[in-house]
Amino acid sequence: MNERLADSHRVFDRVSEEYDTARPHYPEALYLALETLSGVRLAGATVIDVGAGTGISARGLLDRGARVVAVDRGERMLARLRARTDCPALLADGNDLPFRAGAADLVTYAQSWHWLDPALSVAEAVRVLRAGGVTGDGVIAGAGVIGGGGAVAGWWNTVDPGKADWLAANQVRLAESCPGYIGPVLPGWSMPPIAAAMSDAGLAVAETWIDWTRSVRLEDFLTDLRSHSYMARMEVDVVTELLARERAELGRVFPDGRLTVPMRVYLAVGRKGQRGAT
Ligand SMILES: C[S@@+](CC[C@H](N)C(=O)[O-])C[C@H]1O[C@@H](n2cnc3c(N)ncnc32)[C@H](O)[C@@H]1O
Repeated sequence: MNERLADSHRVFDRVSEEYDTARPHYPEALYLALETLSGVRLAGATVIDVGAGTGISARGLLDRGARVVAVDRGERMLARLRARTDCPALLADGNDLPFRAGAADLVTYAQSWHWLDPALSVAEAVRVLRAGGVTGDGVIAGAGVIGGGGAVAGWWNTVDPGKADWLAANQVRLAESCPGYIGPVLPGWSMPPIAAAMSDAGLAVAETWIDWTRSVRLEDFLTDLRSHSYMARMEVDVVTELLARERAELGRVFPDGRLTVPMRVYLAVGRKGQRGAT
């Protein structure tokens, strides 16, 4: 495994407080699309949320009635999750899941799959998902099931700089100042190739994009930036200086201190038991 993947949980542990404070939630439409594309009703479904972090995705799933088991390699990220929810939370590697075969209706990666091994992670997800047809031993939640086998889902929130000049300028400044910046203003940028990985694993794949708008205080927007891995890997003094510049630039656009941020979520779902031998 390369170094970037191997130490990502340590990088996020450094900024777990900022992550917990200021990262955006996912819109209602995301959870509706997840149900539609996966064929799994969240209420009553058993969901393994891999790379659960501070629990943004886990709480969204719990709020919709899912039985969530959170998995993450970051101790501090998981501590934040545990402080806010009482769902089971396991310190474990998403490339080597500590669950028996057929244990889940859904395996989710919210903003996390790109930190895992592309092939190992999906193979593990497919292993722990229930197969289509008759539900195994009755322990697994038949109640949440609309039909077919279980499903793997990956999604990512991103800003949408095509919709606002101030946001495009902000992202260009970040791309110029942060060596590890990854985002929509980079030439050739695209979402992580989870759809191809799912297809390679024999799953039937569907994708969608969901537009939404985030209203956020300027200070929280800056804290959110600080929680991104490309900033978490930089010297603190450099980040503080850079965020002071952003505070001034964005303060000119939003003098009342509240930003309206165009956002997009990309969602990819791979269903088991819909194609070939899976
Ligand atoms: C960007 S956060 C996503 C958190 C959360 N799902 C959300 O929606 O905000 C990515 C998380 O993946 C975790 N992670 C990285 N590599 C992992 C691995 N191999 N197994 C499990 N978790 C991992 C990190 O520790 C981090 O908490």
